[in-house]
Amino acid sequence: MKINPQKSNPPRRTLKARRLKTITVALGKRSYPIYIGAGVRNSAGKILKRLRLPKQTVIVTDTIVARLYLDDVRRSLVEAGFSVLAIVIPQGESQKNLRRADAIYTELLRNRIGRKVTIIALGGGVVGDLAGFIAATYQRGVNFVQIPTTLLAQVDSSVGGKVGINHPLGKNMIGAFYQPLCVIADTETLQTLSERERVCGLGEVIKYGIILDAKFFDHVQKDLADIIAMQPAAIARVAARCCELKAYVVSRDEKEENLRAILNFGHTVGHALEQAGHFRSLKHGEAVLLGMIAETFLAHRLKMIAEADLRRIEDIITAVSLPRSFGFVFSVRKLIDTMRSDKKSLGGKIHFVLPQKIGKITLPMPVNEETVADALRYLNQFVKGL
Ligand SMILES: NC(=O)c1ccc[n+]([C@@H]2O[C@H](COP(=O)([O-])OP(=O)(O)OC[C@H]3O[C@@H](n4cnc5c(N)ncnc54)[C@H](O)[C@@H]3O)[C@@H](O)[C@H]2O)c1
Repeated sequence: MKINPQKSNPPRRTLKARRLKTITVALGKRSYPIYIGAGVRNSAGKILKRLRLPKQTVIVTDTIVARLYLDDVRRSLVEAGFSVLAIVIPQGESQKNLRRADAIYTELLRNRIGRKVTIIALGGGVVGDLAGFIAATYQRGVNFVQIPTTLLAQVDSSVGGKVGINHPLGKNMIGAFYQPLCVIADTETLQTLSERERVCGLGEVIKYGIILDAKFFDHVQKDLADIIAMQPAAIARVAARCCELKAYVVSRDEKEENLRAILNFGHTVGHALEQAGHFRSLKHGEAVLLGMIAETFLAHRLKMIAEADLRRIEDIITAVSLPRSFGFVFSVRKLIDTMRSDKKSLGGKIHFVLPQKIGKITLPMPVNEETVADALRYLNQFVKGL
């Protein structure tokens, strides 16, 4: 498929004085800015004031992020004249469920929070998805702002408006498309991420290179050491490019009717792996990295991608230090059953977006289950060989 994000991207504004990059997600009246920069969390209050948001704010965050960054964001909001209610939840994927959402609704109601409020997600993708789901549903929808603090959230999950929670029978099965009013991505916060969380975010970074931008893939490969070390300049460039690419896709297909499906590369196998490990063994980003190995092999098996590109993709993924075991019993049959019930499968057939070369990918296409089984066996061997 022909995609040219370079040409059709909305113009990028660079505010040099504050070393702040602004990227716009162009969605007509619902367009919104993504601010990327070191220390920008301390300008959250000014940014919300400029957007003329109501005086009441509610920050949803988790215990780890609260300890690190809640005071900064709260101070910035209070200084700009906002009142702040902070709701702090335990960390982790297991919180992204209806029970936790219900507890948050209760807290909002007990505090008599009305519709004139801005819900601010301060944290990683878990907090972003959950708080966004609350914002989309509380009193039929209230203002929403994202302050992502993991690499994965800054380069991917905070942009594009997918919000939601998990159901025991499937990941992200309950949710909405609900765009934030702005995204405030402070690259400084990435310094405190564990190595494991850095790797998780790199999965999505590499994904953008494979699906949309061969030059960016080269750049990530070249600068990998600096990026893994979260070197500020390297990470700011990477975050900005990923956000531009995501903004490009979301602006063209907000509700995943066609083009947006390409963002699911690595996720069909990845979600099945996450579910097989009951969301405890593998983190989302790790599962996506492993999923990309299996799905690239699938493309190679179907003679869609050259061996050389398969090897380059395997090399870069191996270089970011993958988990050396799945952490659960690997069953090809069970994984295939899970993929069949994934919301991306159509008419009971498992669909994949498959790379044709680095920088170019197909729209979703059905693949027969025997070939999928081969790719899963290949992945199993690959992980054993790490
Ligand atoms: N909505 C979307 O478009 C989209 C896209 C991709 C992934 N996701 C979702 O995102 C979630 C994964 O997100 P994640 O990887 O950010 O996980 P996460 O939110 O669980 O964060 C990972 C861990 O890092 C900690 N943390 C966060 N920021 C930190 C910081 N600056 N310093 C130190 N520790 C920090 C958190 O407390 C948590 O323990 C999954 O639920 C996935 O489904 C959503």
